[in-house]
Amino acid sequence: MNKILITRKLPDEVVKPLKDKFEIKMWHSDDVQMTYEELKSEAKDVQAIWTMLSDKVDRALIESLPNLKVISNLGVGYNNIDVEAAKEHGVIVTNTPGVLTETTADLTFSLLLASARRITEAERDLRAGFWKSRSPMQYTGMDVFGATLGIIGMGRIGEAVARRAKGFDMNVLYHNRTRKIEAEKEFGFTYAELDALLQESDFIVLLTPLTPETKGLIGERELDLMKETATIINVARGGIIDEKALYDALKTNKIWAAGLDVFETEPVPMDNPLLTLPNVTVLPHIGSASVRTRLAMMQMNVEAIEAVFENKEPENRVV
Ligand code: NAP
Ligand code: GLV
Repeated sequence: MNKILITRKLPDEVVKPLKDKFEIKMWHSDDVQMTYEELKSEAKDVQAIWTMLSDKVDRALIESLPNLKVISNLGVGYNNIDVEAAKEHGVIVTNTPGVLTETTADLTFSLLLASARRITEAERDLRAGFWKSRSPMQYTGMDVFGATLGIIGMGRIGEAVARRAKGFDMNVLYHNRTRKIEAEKEFGFTYAELDALLQESDFIVLLTPLTPETKGLIGERELDLMKETATIINVARGGIIDEKALYDALKTNKIWAAGLDVFETEPVPMDNPLLTLPNVTVLPHIGSASVRTRLAMMQMNVEAIEAVFENKEPENRVV
């Protein structure tokens, strides 16, 4: 029987259909994650690994696993996996695109609204007993309706965010590797070069994958181009924004606020200086975290693994 390593404890009903066909090794915890060394040792004799985004699957790991046939990643992003090494060694990689698009767009918009209207900051103060008076400029934020939204990375989720923005009467600019002429015509989105988008937008949302080209895409120069009243939202990956430059820009009020669902290091170390700033709204990487969406994503992983061992082409094959 082929063996599957599942790197986090998953709901029984999700794993059940695999149990008749495979020998399953499932990590004991849905909370404590495997270390790299644990992953390497647990994966030694398996044909399939069902990975989480936090599992680093690098060349050295892939090359240490001669029996490996498939890595099925729970998530649309796959920057945690060395896909070139996988390809070279004939290892199939699959991901979970599409089913999480609308849920992640909802979360992106929630974070945008929360950052604009200082929602988590105000809630924290209220719970801590700091709400002593009601003065006219207290907790005043930025208007979202009618503002200009700049989306960097106009793919599936970018477009879903842009559609939501139209309901808020926002002017939508976008920057993407390739132009989306149909979306421009259908929804009235406007293409902009990166610098122009940064200069003109009130809210900037990052939705590219993390790649060598997008790593550090937003650094000191780019933050300097933004309006002093602008807010940046990162739901894509930590590393696309240079966190040190972001901290400096927020601390010195060069930009107004940030909303972050993702970080360079996750889980975020408690000494990350961004956590000390009141104008940063933070979330623990929960873009796709609705019950229905997470179950749908896991179902895609199950189907991909089954397909590989039935010698069928898995849907959502990355390489
Ligand atoms: P997608 O459909 O592939 O969209 C990504 C877009 O980024 C594409 O339109 C792509 O352009 C564009 N792009 C790539 N490199 C670029 C560059 N250098 N400059 C400008 N644009 C570039 O992917 P998606 O499903 O929307 O997901 C996007 C990302 O969101 C994922 O990779 C993942 O990292 C992140 N994500 C996060 C969460 C969360 O929980 N926070 C949840 C889901 C996804 P082309 O059209 O030319 O390919
Ligand atoms: C989440 O971050 C994903 O890439 O699915």
